[in-house]
Amino acid sequence: MSVPVIQVSGIRKTYGKLVAVDDVSLDVRDGEIFGLIGPNGAGKTTTMECVEGIRKPDRGTIKVLGLDPVRDVYQLQERIGVQLQQAQLQKRIKVWEAVHLWASLYRKKPAVGNQLLEQLGLIEKRDAWFMTLSGGQKQRLFIALALINDPEVVFLDELTTGLDPQARRAIWELVRGIRARGKTVFLTTHLMEEAERLCDRVAIIEHGRIIDMDRPERLVTRHCPERTVVLATTDENAREHFGRIPHLVSVTPDEERIVLAGSGDEFITDVIQCISENRIRVTEFRTVLPTLEDVFLRLTGHSIRD
Ligand SMILES: Nc1ncnc2c1ncn2[C@@H]1O[C@H](COP(=O)(O)OP(=O)(O)O)[C@@H](O)[C@H]1O
Ligand SMILES: [Mg+2]
Repeated sequence: MSVPVIQVSGIRKTYGKLVAVDDVSLDVRDGEIFGLIGPNGAGKTTTMECVEGIRKPDRGTIKVLGLDPVRDVYQLQERIGVQLQQAQLQKRIKVWEAVHLWASLYRKKPAVGNQLLEQLGLIEKRDAWFMTLSGGQKQRLFIALALINDPEVVFLDELTTGLDPQARRAIWELVRGIRARGKTVFLTTHLMEEAERLCDRVAIIEHGRIIDMDRPERLVTRHCPERTVVLATTDENAREHFGRIPHLVSVTPDEERIVLAGSGDEFITDVIQCISENRIRVTEFRTVLPTLEDVFLRLTGHSIRD
């Protein structure tokens, strides 16, 4: 296995008496989208800023592309891309001016500018003032600026916060595009759906501590094995047949539908098999699977809080 692009080992960061990040360790692999996920105040931004070299952890070690983010900050800056926050751009800077300004900050001079604006759907906005852009356009500009030095690793902090679902989807597509070009993405989000749709792996952080880390679907399988099938049938014997399905936890009839809850990956197959073997006529069938949201509820419900 190749050396991870980002290696964080046992970092801690306090602000006065507050422990913002407590013994956090994680690895980000080459070419993946890695998400640090958790509620507001969990320590996501602090962790990311330590990895970027903007903050120095009180203890622990960090390596990014084999470099120390604090000691080797100038070397690293050429190779990473960091997303700006809203307040960091002047209202009346034009889109193309921002792009030129950013390009001038780097030694490396890639063929960017218009090509990048084109890719991010901003070309028709190149003469517009920053303040006239929509939320989604602003975030796309921040992505463009983070990509301007053709970085190997891109850091995105709560990239889609405040965007409507459509703009959010467009941004997700762009982030997948960054991965498709072989780059590594380290992002934070408090949106579980975003993490589930976008990330190859996630670390769940709460109160400054990582409580689990894995592929989203693996976290769901491990922590929330329950599966639910909702179906409609007029077959009077159906309920009796369903009662014999292995790993069935409950059968809840409502007016026209039957809700079957069970556990394990085989459950849905077993339901289908039961329907088929007993020739039960079904007019509606859908499955309800647990999500990262459920994982988070389950994990934090069991965690020891202050
Ligand atoms: N500059 C700072 N000074 C003091 N406390 C801070 C500072 N930045 C963040 N915090 C606190 O540290 C904790 C973690 O914050 P942060 O890393 O921003 O979390 P997140 O990004 O997950 O919302 C929070 O309790 C926050 O209030
Ligand atoms: Mg934050």
